[in-house]
Amino acid sequence: MAINIKTAAEIKKMRIAGKLAADVLTMIEPYVVAGVSTDELDQRCHNYIIDQQQAIPAPLNYKGFPKSICTSVNQQVCHGIPNQKKLKKGDIVNIDITVIKDEYHGDTSKMFYVGTPSPQAKRLSEVAQKAMYIGISQIKPKAHTGDIGHAIQKYAEANYCSIVREYCGHGIGKKFHDAPQILHYGKQGTGSELEVGMTFTVEPMVNLGKRHIKQLSDGWTVVTKDRSLSAQWEHTILVTETGFEILTLREEEVNWEHKL
Ligand code: MF3
Ligand code: CO
Ligand code: CO
Repeated sequence: MAINIKTAAEIKKMRIAGKLAADVLTMIEPYVVAGVSTDELDQRCHNYIIDQQQAIPAPLNYKGFPKSICTSVNQQVCHGIPNQKKLKKGDIVNIDITVIKDEYHGDTSKMFYVGTPSPQAKRLSEVAQKAMYIGISQIKPKAHTGDIGHAIQKYAEANYCSIVREYCGHGIGKKFHDAPQILHYGKQGTGSELEVGMTFTVEPMVNLGKRHIKQLSDGWTVVTKDRSLSAQWEHTILVTETGFEILTLREEEVNWEHKL
């Protein structure tokens, strides 16, 4: 499938949508504490996106998804549906935000710790985050999508973690999920060649145990088959002449390249 190249005007809108999605994660951070339900987090993000940002929460009613954000707790890999269950100390939770502003999507997620995480939960989350950054660092014109996946897989597996294969990063723009697919595993030099003006996500799902997953009967929530913990981080990226621009970068991350 052909990969669409954004015009300067479209890139401007992608930057705005990306910034708004990032701002929701920053806004919600202080509320991710023991005793809060993921429904309350959903409500707060929903209201913020609608009332403060004059934007649209893309997940709501997307292929029938019932809420405005995804919240994936502990062994949940992705697409967790917010519910009335309260978070407790030691939980790890991914919050995945996608907003639509002026027809364009921004998509980003991060891990939150509820209280102090176990050493292995902290290690997993850090491996997943660094895997995402290492994948993003491969991005430049003429590189291939497979270079991203290869770098992510190599780093995660060297750190005794596994990469989920069934879900991948995706082109993004007017469409939520577009070409190309960004696999988080694979071989260098394979897949699509990157070009200036492409926009897509990098969003590895990393498990502490085996890579295999199953979907719950709610039709959405994905969990690890062996019930091991899972972590995910996601950014929306623009390919530039010199490499890449992270459209969903948060203030807390401005020095991320120093930690690689
Ligand atoms: N935000 C997810 C992604 O990164 C997709 C969520 S689809 C939903 O691609 F329907 F579950 F919201
Ligand atoms: Co995504
Ligand atoms: Co997402």
